[in-house]
Amino acid sequence: YLSLSHHFLPNPATPLSQPMPRCCSAMILNPFLVAMAVAFTSAVTGCPVLCTCHSQVVDCSGQRLFSVPPDLPLDTRNLSLAHNRITTIPPGYLTCYVELRVLDLRNNSLAELPAGLFLMTRRLAHLDLSYNNFSHVGADMFQEAHSLVRINLGHNPWLRKVHPQAFQGLAQLRDLDLSYGGLSFLSLEALEGLPGLVTLQIGGNPWVCSCTMEPLLKWLRNRIQRCMSDSQLAECRAPPEVEGAPLFSLTEESFKACHLTLTLDDYLFIAFVGFVVSIASVATNFLLGITANCCHRWSKASEDEEI
Ligand SMILES: *[C@@H]1O[C@H](CO)[C@@H](O)[C@H](O)[C@H]1NC(C)=O
Ligand SMILES: *[C@@H]1O[C@H](CO)[C@@H](O)[C@H](O)[C@H]1NC(C)=O
Ligand SMILES: *[C@@H]1O[C@H](CO)[C@@H](O)[C@H](O)[C@H]1NC(C)=O
Repeated sequence: YLSLSHHFLPNPATPLSQPMPRCCSAMILNPFLVAMAVAFTSAVTGCPVLCTCHSQVVDCSGQRLFSVPPDLPLDTRNLSLAHNRITTIPPGYLTCYVELRVLDLRNNSLAELPAGLFLMTRRLAHLDLSYNNFSHVGADMFQEAHSLVRINLGHNPWLRKVHPQAFQGLAQLRDLDLSYGGLSFLSLEALEGLPGLVTLQIGGNPWVCSCTMEPLLKWLRNRIQRCMSDSQLAECRAPPEVEGAPLFSLTEESFKACHLTLTLDDYLFIAFVGFVVSIASVATNFLLGITANCCHRWSKASEDEEI
């Protein structure tokens, strides 16, 4: 609350000009200022400037914020910081908000989240990170956020990599949006461990439908093809033979070249080559043997002559 009251104190006491923990600076304030600060903060129920706070919903969207607002109500359930210009979230920002269910960070300039951000938000169910600047989803990004039901990472045009363990342990996850990024590959391992996954959006990415993608595509086809809301949008960008083909139009046949199967002719050829090589080596050994023998005899003969 203090950072809020700072703005309204007519002439801040000198110790206050430096930021310090809330509890400490409150004690330094003289009683009159304390009374004023308390009266003010209770009047606005501790809602940050530029935000509206109403029955556990805090809305700070579209305020051109460059950083996250401090000191939200402690019982916040829905927090929207959407449509701002936030570039970083300080570590531990959410530590106090154990009631948080919904966090909307859509349309900001975030490239990463600090480690352990969700350590205390054990009830967080909906997380919207779409329209940001994430380039990779690391193994620890959603660590501890075990209640997540929905993650939206769509429209992150720089998103190139999703760690195979990025969604590990998210047993409740139902909806995952990875659409309109820069993904060319996604490992099967990243999705395999999600027992509750119902909808997956992966359209609008430059998928490379090569052999390394086969396990994932096979798995998708068998499991959630019908649940994908954007299956028609998911297309191969490469290799050239399948460019523009919907991911789900690829069949076993498309990946035939990935499994090198040998025909009878191949076996005969290999047997023939093997035969020729062994004959050649026997002949070589024979010749070497003869040569060695000759040399030996010759040197012996010359030794005899010398004596
Ligand atoms: C909180 O957010 C969720 C999900 O976006 C929404 O369904 C719910 O209505 C919101 N709650 C309030 C009180 O606005
Ligand atoms: C993102 O937010 C800006 C305002 O900061 C708004 O003009 C723009 O339409 C928003 N874009 C999306 C995709 O919501
Ligand atoms: C987004 O990230 C890329 C690199 O990943 C960087 O070049 C670009 O400037 C960033 N854009 C914004 C708006 O931060």
